[in-house]
Amino acid sequence: MKTIEVAMLGLGTVGSGVLDILKHDQEKIGQISDTDFKISRILVRDIAKYQKAYPNLNLTTNFDEIIENKDLQIVIEVMGGIHPTKEYISELLKQGRTVITANKDLMASYGLELMKLANKYSGKLFYEASVAGGIPILRILDQNYVGDQISQIAGIINGTSNYILTQMADNGWSYGQALSQAQKLGFAEANPANDVSGKDAAYKLIILGWLAFGINLSLDQIRVVGITEVTQEDLTAVEKFDYTLKLIAKLEAKNNTYNALVVPMLVSNDNMLAKTNNEFNAIEIKSYAIGSSFYYGPGAGKLPTANSVINDLVAAVKSEPIFDTAWNCEMPTVKDIFIRQYW
Ligand code: NAP
Ligand code: HSE
Repeated sequence: MKTIEVAMLGLGTVGSGVLDILKHDQEKIGQISDTDFKISRILVRDIAKYQKAYPNLNLTTNFDEIIENKDLQIVIEVMGGIHPTKEYISELLKQGRTVITANKDLMASYGLELMKLANKYSGKLFYEASVAGGIPILRILDQNYVGDQISQIAGIINGTSNYILTQMADNGWSYGQALSQAQKLGFAEANPANDVSGKDAAYKLIILGWLAFGINLSLDQIRVVGITEVTQEDLTAVEKFDYTLKLIAKLEAKNNTYNALVVPMLVSNDNMLAKTNNEFNAIEIKSYAIGSSFYYGPGAGKLPTANSVINDLVAAVKSEPIFDTAWNCEMPTVKDIFIRQYW
């Protein structure tokens, strides 16, 4: 069995989950990958915060220790944010290293640029954990719709806002109470503004658009309305009519026209999306050959998200060509395609 040295950028919710799974499932991961993954360096901002819980880990606040150490072949980026993360990942890819990220803000904003960089310098960039937490939706899109034509992808792809709506509707919690619990449970972003404004779901829709349609939407091409204006009264009122209010992200294609939105919508209670509660995500894909298929699972949180990172880690050493569609294609922007207003 070979040993591969790995560095990690960040040791918060997802980073600690990665360590947990690597320890808990060490033997299985070793057998499947024929690799002993050794986490040799972890970048954080404040070492003192982590030393008590992780006395045996090699923590650093200096990225130079990672970029200068070429033995660290794989780097897991779970620190979030766009800067300096983009600069760090760019430097790593330019050295031909493998990077695994859970960062949808960065991927949606600069992902194609980073993929081109990876291609140019023989680096690799994996990003399954960036969309829908524990649901392997990017692999599914990349590998299971090869001969199929997708016409629509829609669902719930932000766990925090779904958790808030569920708690407000089912338990009568206030918006603030539910948000603060979502933060405690590790579902929300460090700054939850994108979760509740719909921007986090819009970022994920951009990434889904690459793999479902080969298009590269920009944020301003998506109609985005969050859940901040939703009131307790709204939620109670819709219940009477057998509907549930959900933050729905939807990207549909019709005759070369794409309709892209993230909007709170009424969902009939007999629809599976209405039964998708708390931090769970659900995505329905409509396509020519399969018809309708539905993917459901935890869309945020420590272990489900870390599981997607581990899948990428194993895929990286098995040299699996993941997400070829996004990797190799020149992505057209949709600036000359008419985006329909939803209403
Ligand atoms: P988190 O709990 O806030 O942890 C972030 C970690 O990164 C902390 O250890 C922090 O260290 C470190 N960090 C942040 N900025 C840094 C910097 N400039 N330099 C060095 N270290 C830095 O975040 P998280 O929830 O694990 O999320 C991490 C990433 O995964 C984000 O991109 C997020 O969008 C994505 N993601 C999260 C989830 C989820 O359910 N939480 C799901 C899918 C994807 P300090 O504590 O020392 O500041
Ligand atoms: N904050 C995100 C969410 C994490 O709540 O969906 C998963 O991407």
